[in-house]
Amino acid sequence: MSTTIAIGADHGGFPLKPIICQFVENQGFAVLDCGTDSAEPVDYPDFAAAVGEAVSSGAAWRGIIICGSGVGASVAANKIRGVRAGLCHDTFSAHQGVEDDDMNVLCLGARIIGPNLALEIVHTWLKANFSGAERHVRRLNKIKALEERFARNEK
Ligand code: RB5
Repeated sequence: MSTTIAIGADHGGFPLKPIICQFVENQGFAVLDCGTDSAEPVDYPDFAAAVGEAVSSGAAWRGIIICGSGVGASVAANKIRGVRAGLCHDTFSAHQGVEDDDMNVLCLGARIIGPNLALEIVHTWLKANFSGAERHVRRLNKIKALEERFARNEK
């Protein structure tokens, strides 16, 4: 298993990115920094794509995307095959989203939460593992089927 976490942000998420990168490294993970590197306005789908592709390809185990609200990041990342992105601003969602839904990309809104809560959420999410329970596997398989069906452009 890769121990790399891909982390990306747009200008709205940029203030939180170095804090989260440092924290993730301190937790013993390698960080694949997908940018952005300044407060200059950029487009969040580009950074969601970089993180999502790293997770989808297996180059990273999981990913974190930070934008202003976290909404655009999650919408964009969920277009990428194999990505299960969730917007979490509470620790319950951060662990249950992994345990039940195998959430492999965490989205955060830097204009909504501060660094302390963000780090608690990241910590909770990093420690969480998918339960493997039959009902959750069944539901994930249905999500995979949706992905396949719409990739083939069927109705
Ligand atoms: C950028 O201004 C902002 O729209 C973006 O960071 C994000 O909040 C989108 O969901």
